[in-house]
Amino acid sequence: MKGLILSGGKGTRLRPITHTSAKQLVPVANKPILFYGIEDMAEAGITEVGLIVGETAEEVRAAVGDGSRWGVEITYLPQDEPLGLAHCVAIARDFLGDDDFVMYLGDNLLQQGLTGLVERFDRDRLAAAAPSLEHAPPSPSAHILLCAVPDPQRFGVAELDGDRIVRLVEKPVEPPSDLAMVGVYLFTPAIHEAVAAISPSARGELEIVDAIQWLIDRGHAVHHEQISGWWLDTGKKDSLLEANRRALESIEPRIDGTVDASSEVDGRVVVEAGAVLEGSTVRGPAIIGAGARITGSYIGPFTSVGEDATITGSEVENSVLLERVRLDGVPRLVDSLIGRDTEVARSGRPPKATRLLLGDHCSVDLQ
Ligand code: G1P
Repeated sequence: MKGLILSGGKGTRLRPITHTSAKQLVPVANKPILFYGIEDMAEAGITEVGLIVGETAEEVRAAVGDGSRWGVEITYLPQDEPLGLAHCVAIARDFLGDDDFVMYLGDNLLQQGLTGLVERFDRDRLAAAAPSLEHAPPSPSAHILLCAVPDPQRFGVAELDGDRIVRLVEKPVEPPSDLAMVGVYLFTPAIHEAVAAISPSARGELEIVDAIQWLIDRGHAVHHEQISGWWLDTGKKDSLLEANRRALESIEPRIDGTVDASSEVDGRVVVEAGAVLEGSTVRGPAIIGAGARITGSYIGPFTSVGEDATITGSEVENSVLLERVRLDGVPRLVDSLIGRDTEVARSGRPPKATRLLLGDHCSVDLQ
């Protein structure tokens, strides 16, 4: 079994962060989202991983390297234009060869990991091949994950007849069910024929949903299961903050930095080496990145503070601050995502006013 992770795309829904960074590299609990997918692959015993990269290829390469850190071998597969998920499979054709593979959208986060899923797929494939079984079940050509969601029109949606998938539709205006397709798919090489046979959709993309539908229409077995645990597509600020909350809920508390006598650390908190807390309270779950300095401040639950951030006389909660953010005298910052090297400060200079220098596609919600 090989792995294929998609880390291209433009990330327009996470602007302005994605003007300068790949959406798959935005950190949750101070770790790039993409790394969670690679870890899941390594844990499931997958060692050959193809990584589809687009405009942000260089940055992704710099962050991921050759994969040896996770015991996997990464092959970079450039995609010149984001022409769809099935197009990514076509690009990876030579890399994938005749192997089964798991395709993983690099901005997805899945609590249950991949191990059980890969085992179930292998088991179904073996059962079908067993010579002792007279009426062996058909071997699956694909296995997809479904999750009941309140807003299915944002996803690929499955229509079931009993336990069988009859139809898959991408972002339907009138969803046939509330079962969204999770961005994790298991395929046999049968998918390559499907990808070669389909045409671009109305939005000009080769849709993976259409390729799987092609398999269904030709009588291939496409298995499905509903996921256990949570799943998040981190493409927008709110889902990114939710992913950060979920990831922080399971971090192992550890204090490797310096916490002075007048500071208090409460609950599930990581303070990385070189971070300093002075006269501050950190209430977990939260993580304070290496080299950060927190002075006279309150860091509330579900906050990730990036490396070398400086927070002085401020209060932050349910937020993700990237590297080298500087907050000074900010009374209460909540539900925020702040990009690298950004400064939010109170100068006290008259006239009493808010002064902004914002890039394109920023959003500010004033008190
Ligand atoms: C993609 C797929 C969609 C799937 C979703 C899961 O959409 O096209 O079928 O449900 O990922 O994250 P995107 O979020 O890339 O628009």
